[in-house]
Amino acid sequence: MMKNIVKMLAVSALLSPAIYAGANTAACAGCHGANFEKSALGKSKIVKDLTKDEIVKALKGYKDGSYGGAMKGIMKGQVAKLSDADIEEIATKVGKK
Ligand code: HEC
Repeated sequence: MMKNIVKMLAVSALLSPAIYAGANTAACAGCHGANFEKSALGKSKIVKDLTKDEIVKALKGYKDGSYGGAMKGIMKGQVAKLSDADIEEIATKVGKK
């Protein structure tokens, strides 16, 4: 019994980075604020005031180069490893309701 619990804990510790790697927004907080309430580096729009569709358009656009201002290079690096599903999830979570 004890052995199984230890095994379970070990497995979940191994899995959690994979779970959080996808649509995790902790990495965004340094620039955008924990609730996307700041203008990143004084340049971005306040992301929490954007609609879900606007956020999806921006993030996909940074990926394919069709969106962005003077500092879009910074965001290109941020979104490179996000899948379309991750982007949808983040936009749903963060966007103005
Ligand atoms: C190193 C700082 C930094 C980090 C980390 C960062 N961003 Fe940004 N973000 C910016 C800057 C600067 C801009 C404005 C870029 C431009 O000129 O288009 C921006 C723009 C955006 C925009 C579009 C807003 C607009 O002004 O049109 C969205 C949406 C966004 N970021 C979401 C995210 C998400 C989601 C993450 C985490 C996966 C993230 N950002 C991580 C700095 C950052």
